[in-house]
Amino acid sequence: MLVGGQGTRLRPLTMSAPKPMLPVAGVPVTAHMLARARDAGIDHVILATSYRAEVFEQYFGDGSEVGIELEYITEVEPLGTGGGIRNVADRLRCGADDPVVIFNGDVLSGLDLGALIRRHSDTGADVTLHLHEVEDPRAFGVVPVTPDGRVLEFLEKTPDPPTNLINAGCYVFRRSVLEAIPAGRPVSVERETFPGLLADGAHVAGYIDNTYWLDLGTPAAFVQGSADLVTGRMPSSALPGPVGESLVLPGAVVAADAKLGNGTTVGAGARVGPGAVVDATVLFDGASVGARAQVTGSVIGRDAIIGEGVVLDGVVIGDGARVEPGNELRDGLRVFPGAVLAAGSVRFSSDRS
Ligand code: GDD
Ligand code: MG
Repeated sequence: MLVGGQGTRLRPLTMSAPKPMLPVAGVPVTAHMLARARDAGIDHVILATSYRAEVFEQYFGDGSEVGIELEYITEVEPLGTGGGIRNVADRLRCGADDPVVIFNGDVLSGLDLGALIRRHSDTGADVTLHLHEVEDPRAFGVVPVTPDGRVLEFLEKTPDPPTNLINAGCYVFRRSVLEAIPAGRPVSVERETFPGLLADGAHVAGYIDNTYWLDLGTPAAFVQGSADLVTGRMPSSALPGPVGESLVLPGAVVAADAKLGNGTTVGAGARVGPGAVVDATVLFDGASVGARAQVTGSVIGRDAIIGEGVVLDGVVIGDGARVEPGNELRDGLRVFPGAVLAAGSVRFSSDRS
């Protein structure tokens, strides 16, 4: 599982925690992914870490609590996606022709992993890629295939994509093919390994699965994914409570007349004041939302304080930041950790006049 990226698009949330450790529906993204792997019968996972590596082991330890044997391998200098995969090769325990499953660590998906692995074995492919159709493929790896599922090309983040089928960030490699990735230097599996395999005539197969899929790499996707887990649109056996309109973690205090909806999560020890409306939002542990505040589609960092009557829509508030009353923030605005927005200092106006 590749979990070593910097999570740049999720800054400032990723200044204190690596992206795969940010909580969606109350537990780290990685916990949902590990549960999915375990449910498919995978019993040994190596986490390829780099940025903020220590955070993973502190949380998951040897994996006994999640029911998987976990190992950690840390890249001192990030080796990229392909380099990260190659770097764990000698920890694998299977035979040279056996399948190894690789996951990007920031994806929620309903893919039937067993079916992906079976397809890989049935076709005898060198590598099998999970492919998914999206409306706008420009931010992803684009993967045209033949009608019988052979990959023709791999185009990472291309401005004029020839198809809507994208690389969904989950692969099955034959172990010997994985071991042929050059060791000891940065390699991009998307820009170097896949195009190289195709140029050499390797059998690269695509497995199309159009069940739930979301890359959590942007703030908007992050809140969407969390809400989909809470409401059950994306099923997960790692969910720390029953599916519903909202998820309130232990120790949180929500006023009786506050309204939580559309998959909102209220983190442990967080507070929501009287008359507040919190919709499709993630409140990290210890965050607090004041009376009559209106918060929609936003992420509120750990211990951040949102004042009375504040309006937030589609914003990210960093850990420990404070937004005093009389502010209205919208449209992707990001407040950095510990920052203080004084009373009445920002008021969004829809015509920007
Ligand atoms: N160990 C390690 N080392 N992991 C890394 C490194 C590294 O140097 N760089 C990135 N990762 C991890 C990230 O933590 C993340 O879990 C995963 O690799 C993918 O990196 P992202 O930064 O999220 O890439 P992306 O979303 O722009 O694109 C990738 O994912 C898309 C699907 O979500 C590509 O694989 C695209 O082709 C794909 O469509
Ligand atoms: Mg990503």
